[in-house]
Amino acid sequence: MTSPSVDGPFVPGPAFDGWLPGVDGICYGGDYNPEQWPEEVWEQDVALMREAGVNLVSVGIFSWALLEPREGEFDFAWLDRLFDLLHANGIRVDLGTPTASPPAWFFRRYPQARVVTKDGTVMGFGSRGMAAPTSPEYRAAAVRIATELAERYGAHPALALWHVHNEYGAPVSDDYSENARRAWPLWLQHRYGSLEALNAAWGTRFWGQVYGEWDEVDVPAASPSVVNPAQRLDFARFTDAMLRECFTAERDVIRARSSVPVTTNFMAVACPATDLFAWGREVDVVSNDHYLWAADPRNHVTLALAADLTRSVAGGKPWMLLEHSSSGVNWQPRNVAKRPGEELRNAMSHLGRGADAIMFFQWRASRSGAEKFHSAMLPHAGTRSRVWREVVELGATLGRLGEVVGSRTQADVALLWDQESLWAQGLEWRPSADLQAGERIQTFYDRLWRDGLTVDLARPSQDLSAYRLVVAPASYLLTAADAANLTAYVEGGGTLLVSCFSGIVDEHDRVHEGGFMAPLRTALGVWVEEFLPLREGERVTLEGLGDPLHATVWADDLVLEGAEVVATYADGPAPGGPAVTRHQAGAGKGWYLSTVLDADALAPLMARVYADAGLTPTLLPDDVEVLRRVSDDAEYTIAINHSPVDVRLPVPAGTTDLLSAGATSTDSTSGTTTVPAGEVRVLRAPR
Ligand code: GLA
Repeated sequence: MTSPSVDGPFVPGPAFDGWLPGVDGICYGGDYNPEQWPEEVWEQDVALMREAGVNLVSVGIFSWALLEPREGEFDFAWLDRLFDLLHANGIRVDLGTPTASPPAWFFRRYPQARVVTKDGTVMGFGSRGMAAPTSPEYRAAAVRIATELAERYGAHPALALWHVHNEYGAPVSDDYSENARRAWPLWLQHRYGSLEALNAAWGTRFWGQVYGEWDEVDVPAASPSVVNPAQRLDFARFTDAMLRECFTAERDVIRARSSVPVTTNFMAVACPATDLFAWGREVDVVSNDHYLWAADPRNHVTLALAADLTRSVAGGKPWMLLEHSSSGVNWQPRNVAKRPGEELRNAMSHLGRGADAIMFFQWRASRSGAEKFHSAMLPHAGTRSRVWREVVELGATLGRLGEVVGSRTQADVALLWDQESLWAQGLEWRPSADLQAGERIQTFYDRLWRDGLTVDLARPSQDLSAYRLVVAPASYLLTAADAANLTAYVEGGGTLLVSCFSGIVDEHDRVHEGGFMAPLRTALGVWVEEFLPLREGERVTLEGLGDPLHATVWADDLVLEGAEVVATYADGPAPGGPAVTRHQAGAGKGWYLSTVLDADALAPLMARVYADAGLTPTLLPDDVEVLRRVSDDAEYTIAINHSPVDVRLPVPAGTTDLLSAGATSTDSTSGTTTVPAGEVRVLRAPR
């Protein structure tokens, strides 16, 4: 194998090393939309913010229609007054550019800027959502309002952060408008240089799709059958690139006028339209919005995955939880309210995974509009409410944790996350509709979560040498360079576990030559002769990892090239054939799992893999998480008990409980602490 990549390994995270100017301690607050209220209410808001310990609010995110009531006419008087009021009260401002929701005049004047869906529907006004990201009129208008705001507020002493746009990719991502149709071949020309290169990359000789002129290449709109998957994959890249160009255009005019850091709020895990590792390089500070999926009874695990992904996108630097909810949301089928203590546990899980900001959508519940049933820091019930009391308590709690700011999380395990592979695997006509990349990532993550291991998400092109274990739960698209990087990782002494349907295609969704998984055969000592997907609901039995294990969805017909067989299929389409293999490659080990195991069934396999990696899982009671952040001189332990029973946990010597102000529940002689049911502990030990 050759060196991993001519360009060197991908390095995640922003170049900026600083933090928000003028904010002391952990940022606490939320989206603040005072324009929905008479100005008398603002005074009351600010007094209550102080009571709750709020030190940062996000304003202006949906204010374009008020800030620019007619094209080119600006009214900043109300925002000036708001800035001054917040400043006078010591509350810092995260200023939004309002470009996620252009005003009515914009769409009337530029109807051609409206987004068109795949089936040709033109999106109307009366909701929210940006215009087509490729619309020159939209881009010009967005840059103009961002410029005006930067000139006016860029040096305001209350300003701590720029919040460009809101959640790029939602609700608008794919666009099939005339603007997109014009921009798409230009983007392709830039990517491929020539039509010959495009025809080769897309394999257009299949189904007779060969292009002779650039203007023949259309967006992949509704079509009689499956669209060329390489074209679809490039369209996902194009969509992401167009959204990112909108962001960087606004960011650059702001940077030219203000030294305050710039962010845009991501939706880690929840928004497949954006390649967050690429976005993480473009912002100054990474921020994320997270909402629990209420139907999932263990949604604290999906929260943890989103938080770990956000930290990883930030390259391990501190990040901001820019939105979450104090209780239920309003946009799910059943908007389950959070129960007492749940909000604190959620906040602490984000904090324990590296967040130095705990923010909400939104400060005060709206009386009107689509989100009036969404919870808020200040709910419709007002201050005589459980939610308010918990919001005040959380503010006080965070106030006691200021010293945690800047400390870092350290992970021994990397779980591979490559958005391009997720896009490609999600396309049609794969061998089994039951094999879902998202499910595989979540299940492997759940196993690691239960085993108390801290996990980073990583691109396969990163330098992985610092991790004891790398898990590839769904690496369907794996470039030759990425496969070489993984091979070098193993040969250098790492332990790699690869799950089925990985290493199958290259960056153009072309099957790798040499048989399925060929690029990983040096690392794994095995390749796949034929996929053997199972029927819906079919189960197969694995023998060799203790008690027989049940597997579903998938099996492979494997060809061994040096790997030892750890488990075999007792039945199913390949009885007696290898199911799990282990291979010594250089100084490391390459494991392959050729089927789908649930999180319970993964336990005996992972125990063997951990042993190879020199990892010791932490035996924690069910639904308890223990997180660590370290600074130069202290180690912080954040213990969160999501379960209904009290638990006792071991603690390092000399531990102080930061939340009970010196009076500690830590028993220093026994070295344990009790975390009561549903509660959290934050402990400091010297380092
Ligand atoms: C998103 C948006 C907010 C709000 C919340 C509601 O995160 O950014 O404006 O709509 O969802 O949960």
